Amino acid sequence: MIYSRLMGTGSYLPERQVTNEMLAQTVDTSDEWIRSRTGIAQRHIRDSSQSTSDLAYEAAQRALESAQLSADDIDLIVVATTTPDMAFPSTACLLQAKLGIRSGAPAFDIQAVCTGFLYALSVADQFIRAGTVRHALVVGAETFTDLLDWQDRNTCVLFGDGAGAVVLSAADQPGLLTTRLHADGHYAHLLAAPGKFVQGQAQGSPVVHMDGGAVFKFAVKVLDQVCREVLEEQHLSASAVDCFVPHQANIRIIDATAHKMGISLDRVVRTVSQQGNTSAASVPLALDHALRHQLLQPGQLALLAAVGGGFTWGAALLRV
Ligand code: ACO
Repeated sequence: MIYSRLMGTGSYLPERQVTNEMLAQTVDTSDEWIRSRTGIAQRHIRDSSQSTSDLAYEAAQRALESAQLSADDIDLIVVATTTPDMAFPSTACLLQAKLGIRSGAPAFDIQAVCTGFLYALSVADQFIRAGTVRHALVVGAETFTDLLDWQDRNTCVLFGDGAGAVVLSAADQPGLLTTRLHADGHYAHLLAAPGKFVQGQAQGSPVVHMDGGAVFKFAVKVLDQVCREVLEEQHLSASAVDCFVPHQANIRIIDATAHKMGISLDRVVRTVSQQGNTSAASVPLALDHALRHQLLQPGQLALLAAVGGGFTWGAALLRV
């Protein structure tokens, strides 16, 4: 049997940090409101010269370094993003060129908004298990703040930019134990950027629109469900989880899910206060944080989970 193992992780956050107080100077909000409702204190925002593939490149370089592999060793690139550099080519192809890979290895993007990294991880895992890929670079990268209406206090305070990357390699011992993905497009209207470009003109409204309360309720319900699905499949209980790495959207969603699962907060990665919601980048950013700060140690079991627009949701169990 061939399995996927995690060989390395890396992440990147743009230098510019925008605090709640800074936002309160341009929109009717306050640090107190944002912190108490979301747990967010600040977010990173890309420099005007940076695109999603630039952020992905920085994270990918760090992941390759930690995996002790060179870019030429990579034979699959999957980038999860909602904010690609351009309509086409894919951000994965642009990243491949930036990394200097000339092998002709496949590279493509996946779009599942905040669940995108789990979708990408699952797809890469299946290439590896099928025996067609040895080393896969899986990236979640977003310049999500480009999708915001900075006058809309309901949404503009919630998000940030960033990128996280992992290298998965073929191994004879399982690292990635299982992944489980879901989607239900009937909920599309609750969280969307309902616009597109037609002949160079924006049609509709290509900025984030959200029914916050409905998203909150749905997120708490399905995160718990999908986490239980992967644990049950592996005949494990929540007590076996050394480190819970949830999507970083809102501290209240994270804490409510951990509480429902019976996972104590000292086993939960919580980076949302410093980064906001970075959509597809949030889980790999949190995973890299956990490994670099020894919240997750070699041999331990991580439970990854996310939910996002679509709605999409999913979870993974990973022995690192
Ligand atoms: N500052 C001040 N007031 C605000 C702000 C703000 N930034 N945003 C909204 N408000 C106001 C609203 O206008 C509303 O006012 P009204 O009652 O006069 O109409 C009021 O605050 C709403 O307050 P609450 O009901 O107390 O807000 P709630 O506790 O529901 O929190 C929030 C709102 C933070 C959006 C919450 O519903 C949430 O986090 N939902 C999940 C959304 C999410 O995480 N989306 C990310 C994408 S999906 C994902 O990643 C899972």
